[in-house]
Amino acid sequence: MPDAKKRRVAEAAFERVRHHLDSQTPIGIGTGSTANEFIDVLAESRIDILGAVASSKATEDRLTQHGIELLDLNATGPLPVYVDGADEADPRLNLIKGGGAALTREKIIAEASHEFVCIADDSKRVDVLGAFPLPVEVLPMARSLVARAIVELGGDPEYRTGVVTDNGHIILDIHGLSIVDPKGLELELNQIPGVVTCGLFARRPADLLLLASDTDIIELSRD
Ligand code: A5P
Repeated sequence: MPDAKKRRVAEAAFERVRHHLDSQTPIGIGTGSTANEFIDVLAESRIDILGAVASSKATEDRLTQHGIELLDLNATGPLPVYVDGADEADPRLNLIKGGGAALTREKIIAEASHEFVCIADDSKRVDVLGAFPLPVEVLPMARSLVARAIVELGGDPEYRTGVVTDNGHIILDIHGLSIVDPKGLELELNQIPGVVTCGLFARRPADLLLLASDTDIIELSRD
């Protein structure tokens, strides 16, 4: 996605969450190039915020570079808002996430947040999830077991070579899926022993999806 689109959708998200930004309120921030734009917009605003819970070490580094305080989710409790990108989004705001391998922490923060604002360019919008290979975070010793279970489910798992997550695990990317029941597949994948979590965000989808087109910001909400 051209950087201009990322920047515009990050600015739109900033305006949408601005009422949460003050020195008393923790927020959650995700991972990826679009979330990075949001961090930059936030820093440039010079609003004095309490700090942010980050979904990855990469995001922690970027926040620290900007002088934004890192917060521990165990200390903050529930968050009013979480801003993050996605790899695919369907009309019900179910998402595929994890292209940047940060899916588990992303899912934890999304679950802990009252509102999940997802930001992306309009190429991420799909009718049915699955063209983007679905990431699954797996304990290393369970790699083959989980891969065989995924084949049983009709998927084609590919080991993401050379990638170790922030949690010390590996990623299997599932190709060849047409995900007509995202919630059902999310639950099924998460039941396989050795799976830490899968990158389907259907049990807890986004609440607001902001998509940058060439000219506009498209807003889709779940209610
Ligand atoms: C990180 O693990 C992902 O879930 C990202 O949110 C997703 O890959 C979007 O990244 P971009 O904003 O770089 O497209």
